Amino acid sequence: MTTTDQPLSAGGAPTADWVDLGELARDPYDTYRRLREMGPVVWVPVLNRYLCLSYSGCRALEADQETFTATASALASTRALGGPAMLGKDDPEHAAERAPINRSMRPKNVREFWAPLFERNARMGLDELSAVGPEAADLNRDFAGPLSARNLTDMVGLKGARPADMVRWSHAFTSEQANMQEIPAIRADAETARREVDELLDELIPYYRQHPDSSLASAWANSGLPRDDVYANVKLTIAGGLNEPKHMVSTMVWALTDHPHQRDLLSAEPGRWAEAFDEAIRWVSPIAILPRIVTRPTTFEGVDLPVGAVVCPVIGAANHDPDVFERPEEFDLTRPRVSHLGFGSGVHQCAGHWAARIGIGEIAVPMLYRELPGLRIDRRRPASWSGWVFRGVETAPVTWDAA
Ligand code: HEM
Repeated sequence: MTTTDQPLSAGGAPTADWVDLGELARDPYDTYRRLREMGPVVWVPVLNRYLCLSYSGCRALEADQETFTATASALASTRALGGPAMLGKDDPEHAAERAPINRSMRPKNVREFWAPLFERNARMGLDELSAVGPEAADLNRDFAGPLSARNLTDMVGLKGARPADMVRWSHAFTSEQANMQEIPAIRADAETARREVDELLDELIPYYRQHPDSSLASAWANSGLPRDDVYANVKLTIAGGLNEPKHMVSTMVWALTDHPHQRDLLSAEPGRWAEAFDEAIRWVSPIAILPRIVTRPTTFEGVDLPVGAVVCPVIGAANHDPDVFERPEEFDLTRPRVSHLGFGSGVHQCAGHWAARIGIGEIAVPMLYRELPGLRIDRRRPASWSGWVFRGVETAPVTWDAA
């Protein structure tokens, strides 16, 4: 079917009434390909949203906050976090909340200050993974999950929080953000998580005012921002900074299991680990879709969008745009370098992107391959992927050659 014989929505966008949410969660890439064939912007009734699939369109959407506001996520985020955080605001409000932490998250600071802690945390995780052993280890459960929690606890400065608390809080906040059916048990878990984090911050914020350090909580505590903004942004970071680094560890090991030549290339040229990390984010982006709302009548990619319409850059699809990435479905760390959109772009580009690239791509995963010869996904045990809004390896059995 060509674009011209599709049913068109009011604004002239092709309508994709065939989209199946179950299929999207199982494997979204075939759906993305079919949607892209319909046009760069498609109306998807089951989501009640316009989706933008092209690389250039996603960049343009994220660059124009005046036409496409980020406040789409403010309501869900307020419900989950107890107040609106910067991800659901436009500049200048967003910039005022982002600026205090930018210095701490720059690559120079990450390398000098956070990298030694990331190294220590990866070493601790490696010991735990080795103790479980090559017959029973799960990479997410025994390494990547606790590692991401420890790295985040250090960066945010949540002294006293245990990895299990961080995992529970992060899960409670993200589940409540997606809790469109208002399921009471999910709401109750988010309330508990909010109360526990708020109580911890009641102790830590006065402490950081007296004893400032490089942590994000300290930067926000000394920023002059109102209490509610500080607390909401700490909770946003707990919600957003844990699952994606975890998924990147297992995605990289999955990709290198299936591409042993590329694994060998990395052993020969360890300076290329950052390329492997970026290629893995492009290949399977841990966050696929971002919400934006139209603020003024506009024609975008040939589609007339009404005020109030939700139009989403699908960065997971943009990262497979064949006009930009040849053979997009293949993992190939040697492909010509083009910036992927896996961390978003524009003013909301991920605050933790250098921390993730260095902590996971340059420290943790190379350490795993140095210390566990023959590391690979264990195909004798069931392994699985899940999700499309948030996508990653769900069950990650791994094995390696015993010494
Ligand atoms: C591989 C790991 C990660 C991925 C793929 C990722 C992805 C993203 C994406 C796509 C956005 C933009 C959302 C939008 O534009 O609407 C974002 C924002 C954000 N991320 Fe990450 N993230 C990762 C790791 C982290 C880490 C480790 C932290 C914390 C240290 C973090 C903190 C944040 C924050 C605070 C924002 C909001 C930025 C703003 O509104 O200005 N992320 N992330």
